[in-house]
Amino acid sequence: MGKVRLGLIGLGLMGTPHARTLIKVPECDLVAASDVDEKQKAVTEELGIKFYRRYEEMIEKENLQGVILAVPNHLHVSIGIACAQQGLHLFVEKPIAQSVSEADRLIEAAKKNKVRILVGHQRRFSSLVEKAREIVAGGELGRLVGVTVTWALLKPGPYFEGPLSWRKDKGGGPILINLIHEIDNLRYICGEIDQVFALTSNKVRNFHVEDTASIALRFKNGALGTIFLSDCAPSLTSWEGTTGENPLLYHDFGNCYNFFGTDGSLLFPQMKRLYYSDPAKAGWNYPITEQGYKMVREDPYIKEFSHFCRVVSGKEESRTSGEDGRRTLEVTLAIQRSGETGQPIVL
Ligand SMILES: NC(=O)c1ccc[n+]([C@@H]2O[C@H](COP(=O)([O-])OP(=O)(O)OC[C@H]3O[C@@H](n4cnc5c(N)ncnc54)[C@H](O)[C@@H]3O)[C@@H](O)[C@H]2O)c1
Repeated sequence: MGKVRLGLIGLGLMGTPHARTLIKVPECDLVAASDVDEKQKAVTEELGIKFYRRYEEMIEKENLQGVILAVPNHLHVSIGIACAQQGLHLFVEKPIAQSVSEADRLIEAAKKNKVRILVGHQRRFSSLVEKAREIVAGGELGRLVGVTVTWALLKPGPYFEGPLSWRKDKGGGPILINLIHEIDNLRYICGEIDQVFALTSNKVRNFHVEDTASIALRFKNGALGTIFLSDCAPSLTSWEGTTGENPLLYHDFGNCYNFFGTDGSLLFPQMKRLYYSDPAKAGWNYPITEQGYKMVREDPYIKEFSHFCRVVSGKEESRTSGEDGRRTLEVTLAIQRSGETGQPIVL
């Protein structure tokens, strides 16, 4: 198969590692990248690709098939629409947009210009998540009863200082920055969420934005979920603290999710299924059987960009379409609103 000609827009904290990954993906031909900040040219020189300060010039001159948008959230829609109008397929970093109505504008523009969208929820490409989905959605646990999620860790002081102090204000808290990934995982593994209720607190950090939240969920299939979220508690019980998928963050080997079904439960990411092997000896009087799954760990970003190339070539449907990214955003914003109003929200 011919390589897919790609350009990248935004060479910041996320875009720079994306450029380094894209260069390694056999199906991708990353030919150029753009950033308004001239300092980011260095990485393009290191990788041997062209640099543009103006993305408009890049998409006009480079005969691209698709673009990767790794610009700040408020630019996803305007730049995404400009690229769609040039017929370029879109990889949009999460969140797809800052509001549901903005997401709709981007989805509409993509449809009108016949281009496809893949939203950057890379955890869908984690082999752990793929396996959990196979087990839960595939019925190995019986009917899903519920799920618990813990995301607790300590963000260090510098995370909130200097140019990063926007993280103390609305939109900069763990609901919109971090929880959105857990919500996307839950939707992917357990199914659609149709009701949320959140209690939030900022009592530890005293910022305008929440530092802690306790969240209840109802899934369309009737299962229930609870999430405890906090960025001010020293702990290893989080996706980052247990999966090791972010090499920059310390991790150990605990569990951050527990899926419960009528026939068994699954500890994640240890990938241990607990069930009663003898139906005549089922219930809390009896020892429970533990089964492990052999996992092969692969880089989710490499898999995600390979998939993007196949989406551009029309060989695969987008695993996280614009509509999917929009729904994950809608649920996450509803949780934020529920925390602000103290009211449950039916979606
Ligand atoms: N998938 C994930 O796990 C994950 C993690 C972190 C960030 N993100 C997302 O990635 C995106 C970027 O975040 P970041 O942390 O890299 O931000 P950042 O501020 O570090 O980088 C953004 C870059 O975009 C450049 N830029 C701004 N306007 C531009 C324009 N008009 N044209 C070209 N370049 C422009 C900036 O100069 C900067 O270098 C955000 O949407 C964020 O939510 C995703």
